[in-house]
Amino acid sequence: QNPEKTKLLEAYELAGKLYQYILKNTEQGKQAMQYLRSRGLNDKVIETFGIGYAPPQWDTLAQLLERRQFPLPLMEKGGLISSRQDGQGYFDKFRDRILFPIHDWKGQLIAFGGRAMGDVQPKYLNSPESILFHKSRSLYNMHLARPAIRKLRKLVLFEGYVDVIKAWESGITNGVATMGTALTDEHADVIRKQADQVVVAYDGDSAGQNAAYKSIPILEKAGVQVQIAMIPGGKDPDEYITSQGSERFVREVIEAAVPSIKYKLLYFRKNYKLQEDGEKLRYIQQALKIIADIPSPIEREHYVRDLVTEFPYSYESALQTLNEIRLQAEKNN
Ligand code: UTP
Ligand code: MN
Ligand code: MN
Ligand code: MN
Ligand code: MN
Repeated sequence: QNPEKTKLLEAYELAGKLYQYILKNTEQGKQAMQYLRSRGLNDKVIETFGIGYAPPQWDTLAQLLERRQFPLPLMEKGGLISSRQDGQGYFDKFRDRILFPIHDWKGQLIAFGGRAMGDVQPKYLNSPESILFHKSRSLYNMHLARPAIRKLRKLVLFEGYVDVIKAWESGITNGVATMGTALTDEHADVIRKQADQVVVAYDGDSAGQNAAYKSIPILEKAGVQVQIAMIPGGKDPDEYITSQGSERFVREVIEAAVPSIKYKLLYFRKNYKLQEDGEKLRYIQQALKIIADIPSPIEREHYVRDLVTEFPYSYESALQTLNEIRLQAEKNN
């Protein structure tokens, strides 16, 4: 392996240990520990996920790396430290932040996600892209979740660090996160290698709903079956678990996840005032367009029947419209 990678891995490993030590054993770590407790994270998960705390001082890590004779320009390139404006020495990238270590699938520490405890912006500061960390391919917690994912051939996809950790505490051990909402084709390929099915459990706010909608074609193109978990009240999984408890989260959110088609129908439905006839008609057209994309005729029939039990149209005319849409689509291809 490339010697720069080896050195940087060694430095991340050391930094991870330092920050864990500071969280658990120092006076400065106490308020960080308080913060984690207030978010419902206990000692056991703090240990399992290797959570740490970077103190407010400018150069705690920089000094340690220097003492241990790590090549500092490489450490800077790797995102652990930055050089001072005046060119005299280095300061730490992460200061006064809770650190969530990010590992590759083998369990090697390759980056950090650093959360501010107060109203500091940005809320999360992440390690930059480096020779170790490629955000477009990395999934948070893949190393711990991998055995469960491979056994179940199923994965749960979250947005954030805390969602994964709180879900883990709730017994969901096959959860990973995209660390934000930008799911890429590369992520989907990584997922496809381990799982046949994905439950997308993004935040219930409109950003999360939109991101879940966009994730569907990316995952389906890669060949995985997609279900979407919907979280009521615009909450995210972490908030839902805190307010409603683990059991309700598993039963009413994860196990109640709907097939991607059903999600698409619900997603569009919000935009129509269904009490009005014209809107009703427009919605039906939109819904039939979504249904027309389903490859299986049985499944298409299922959703058309669903639709006509709710709206005052006959099965025959809905089916005829569906077939017209399919014919038109064929012509366009
Ligand atoms: P959210 O804004 O949903 O944050 O971003 P969260 O995970 O609920 O955070 P908490 O619960 O307030 O601590 C989801 C994910 O997007 C990435 C992080 O990985 C975060 O977990 N993110 C978010 C960033 O990288 N930077 C940001 O400023 C915000
Ligand atoms: Mn890259
Ligand atoms: Mn969010
Ligand atoms: Mn969130
Ligand atoms: Mn949250």
